[in-house]
Amino acid sequence: MAANNEFALRCENLHRYLGRDDARVHVLRGVSFEARRGQVYAIVGPSGCGKSTLLYLLGLLDQPDGGEISINGQVMSNTDDAARTAARGEHIGFVFQFHFLMLEFSALENVMMPMRKLGRLTQEQMVERAHGLLTSVGLGQKTHRLGTQLSGGEQQRVAVARALANQPSIILADEPTGNLDVTNSALVFDLLTRLAKENGQAVILVTHNPEIAARCDLTRPMRDGLFV
Ligand SMILES: Nc1ncnc2c1ncn2[C@@H]1O[C@H](COP(=O)(O)OP(=O)(O)O)[C@@H](O)[C@H]1O
Ligand SMILES: [Mg+2]
Repeated sequence: MAANNEFALRCENLHRYLGRDDARVHVLRGVSFEARRGQVYAIVGPSGCGKSTLLYLLGLLDQPDGGEISINGQVMSNTDDAARTAARGEHIGFVFQFHFLMLEFSALENVMMPMRKLGRLTQEQMVERAHGLLTSVGLGQKTHRLGTQLSGGEQQRVAVARALANQPSIILADEPTGNLDVTNSALVFDLLTRLAKENGQAVILVTHNPEIAARCDLTRPMRDGLFV
């Protein structure tokens, strides 16, 4: 078998229950998955099948009830909050359907935020890197615009730049184009995949859009908490 760290992300036999008592649901029922650097994976499946729950687990935002998750060869699923938070900041970038930008801050400030948290760069280095990332998503002229002064498509491009801020090895995207029109969907998807290929990142993307799924390297259909 190949060495663990060949994969940016790996999970094995993940189980997750949500809700209490009578409402307790076995949401993930033994999910295994591996993601290589430079590859783009689509997770598709009907609403409620467990896609977001899985992405939360993979992003170390939630803990599984069973199974194991490793990031760059290191098992993270049984580590403490501090270790998971650190791993998340360093290795994982998120793009959600709703961008979750701080709209009262500039595009530049939003992209710098994960860098500030990680605390490895000087102010000057952060500004330079954020500027470069915003340029690569086509917003080099709008770095000082506030979130409120950007269109929906532009906001989502800022979210993509923010996800790349700390050069993560893994990008997790939950319906990243779900809230965008056709043109902006294509733009954001192209950006995500192009930058991921250039930087050798693994992208795991949940999508309802069959055209987008078809353009990923691999599609994993999900049903009732399992890959089919
Ligand atoms: N906090 C919760 N308590 C109980 N059930 C939940 C909770 N969160 C999600 N679920 C259930 O888990 C299932 C999977 O949800 P989710 O992962 O959001 O699905 P998807 O992203 O594929 O639409 C759904 O049936 C949903 O109702
Ligand atoms: Mg979902």
